[in-house]
Amino acid sequence: MIIGKRLYLRCLDKQDIYKVMNWRNQPHVHENIFSFTFINSYQQEQWFEKYAQDSRQESFMIVLKETEEEIGVIGLSYIDYKNGTAVLNTMIGEKRYWGKGYATEASIYIINYAFNELNLNRITSFFYESNKAIINKNLKLGFKMEGKLRQLIFSKGKFQDVGVMGLLREDWVKIQDSIGNL
Ligand SMILES: CC(C)(COP(=O)(O)OP(=O)(O)OC[C@H]1O[C@@H](n2cnc3c(N)ncnc32)[C@H](O)[C@@H]1OP(=O)(O)O)[C@@H](O)C(=O)NCCC(=O)NCCS
Repeated sequence: MIIGKRLYLRCLDKQDIYKVMNWRNQPHVHENIFSFTFINSYQQEQWFEKYAQDSRQESFMIVLKETEEEIGVIGLSYIDYKNGTAVLNTMIGEKRYWGKGYATEASIYIINYAFNELNLNRITSFFYESNKAIINKNLKLGFKMEGKLRQLIFSKGKFQDVGVMGLLREDWVKIQDSIGNL
């Protein structure tokens, strides 16, 4: 468990997957993630069985300390210990909690975990270019815009570009003073 200021992160457990499925299927989340189908509980259970045995993925429930309410999920996927890389995925499923800095706060904890515990060197973030919240969050945390993968995903009737940002361990070290004020 990772305990922070307003939030704590705890390992995703089987009991959580139905809540995560409901979040993923809601339009405000679904339109921003790369999963093109809506998912049912059978698929979600199958996903969890694979996830539980896969050391290349780590997911955490984001929980409000004050009320113990679960508000989202954050995780690293495609963890590659040889090259020291992973992809960061963030979702605040409860829309009423958007814009309160929770994704930023949870990301700080997971980035520290990635660099200081897993000894990774680089974290990548992929997003639709319309997703200003994820871009702003990443910029605040020192990610650099690295480009886009043109027309990678077919969604909403068209082929959409996917943006790529990256955070190196050396970038993270440089912005530690400003992170303290977030
Ligand atoms: C993207 C997401 C995780 C952001 O979570 P959040 O808790 O609202 O983010 P934060 O409150 O930490 O805000 C991050 C920054 O984005 C800005 N922001 C938030 N919503 C925004 C919006 N709709 N448009 C523009 N900027 C926005 C915030 O103002 C903040 O920047 P600032 O501090 O400079 O003002 C959340 O909207 C979400 O879960 N969306 C659906 C799933 C998703 O898109 N996941 C990422 C897929 S790659």
